[in-house]
Amino acid sequence: MNRQAFLDHYLVDRRQTDSSKWDGMKEKFGEEDLLPMWIADMEFKTCDAITAALTGRCKHGVFGYSMVPESYYKAYSDWMDQRYSFPLKKDWVRFSTGCVTGIAWMIHAYTQPGDACMILTPVYYPFHNVVTNNNRRLVTVDLHYEHGYFTMDYEAIEKTIIENDVKMFVQCSPHNPAGRVWDEEELDQVLAICEKHHVLVVSDEIHQDLVIADKKFIPAAAVSNGRYRDIIVTLSSASKTFNLATLLHSHIIITNDELRARYDQFASGLNRTEVSIMGMLATQAGYEAGSEWLSHVLDTIRDNYIYLKEILNQELPEVTVCELEGTYLAFLDMRGYLSPDEVQHFIQKQCHLAVDYGEWFGANFKGFIRLNLATDPKFVRQAAEIIIEMIKNKKNS
Ligand SMILES: Cc1ncc(COP(=O)(O)O)c(C=O)c1O
Repeated sequence: MNRQAFLDHYLVDRRQTDSSKWDGMKEKFGEEDLLPMWIADMEFKTCDAITAALTGRCKHGVFGYSMVPESYYKAYSDWMDQRYSFPLKKDWVRFSTGCVTGIAWMIHAYTQPGDACMILTPVYYPFHNVVTNNNRRLVTVDLHYEHGYFTMDYEAIEKTIIENDVKMFVQCSPHNPAGRVWDEEELDQVLAICEKHHVLVVSDEIHQDLVIADKKFIPAAAVSNGRYRDIIVTLSSASKTFNLATLLHSHIIITNDELRARYDQFASGLNRTEVSIMGMLATQAGYEAGSEWLSHVLDTIRDNYIYLKEILNQELPEVTVCELEGTYLAFLDMRGYLSPDEVQHFIQKQCHLAVDYGEWFGANFKGFIRLNLATDPKFVRQAAEIIIEMIKNKKNS
């Protein structure tokens, strides 16, 4: 299938389908005629293999209590092995209804009220809320930002851990919205600091399959041949990969026996840790037959990103389009043309775009916007063109 055929087959109009991105815009932004470039899901229908698996179950018509078959674990392990050389043992895997729910459960399983949990900002805003809403102390460390590229500030991380007696680090890998796919050496350094100070690492790897740069995603539990496995719990899902967010199915991977026993003890107090049949069927079908669809999606995201970066570099050289190695979420630093306080009003009222704003991800990132590129290239063009036109008008006025 060529690119156009892929787009023709899979792009879909999501208006009037109760989609948060389109139909929830009024509630979130107070207006409904914006071009939605916010929230992290895709404008593409999921792959045909997944739709067929779900349709088949609908035709059968029974949605009673279900179990996870051996073939599911095999499909999941094969996917992890073939892509990341990280085969999984069935015994390591537990399930939750979402990665953020998984973070909440890990907070309860492994920390006490008032304990400090660290995140590296700017980061996906529910990371902030899930810590504070569960009565833990939120400790943030800003990533180092230079020339549109984010890196970890190891000195600040270690100092913060010591000063705050941090118990848990909620890591985002690949990182939303920084767009980084962490190198093995970077992960090794931060994990070594956590190990030294007895900090448990919860690694949210929901974006693992969405790498557009020429580099490899490394699961935290595979870093340095698994050296840090005993301090890591990994959260992941096929929901970003195959656009399945509301099927509410995600994984918790715990390789260490003692940590797993502690989690199981916690989970025995939860009524529901079995899986949603639709989430499970979709995930298995994606892992078994979704590779080609995914590579078309990645090519589309990459092309959208290259277009956006090139056109903005050319027309608005003072807008910094941050390096996008992974995720489909481009982070743009608008401060070259606009004061941080102007950005929201300018983007919504003059450009008529619905985006995620930098300050949602971290207090020091006001003046950035995040654009979702898992969409029709035509929307990326429209967004770029209106930003260019409005900034040029502003400069000339
Ligand atoms: C890093 C990260 N974790 C988790 C989520 C949401 O996952 P879930 O819907 O499974 O809670 C997102 C969604 O954008 C995300 O970017």
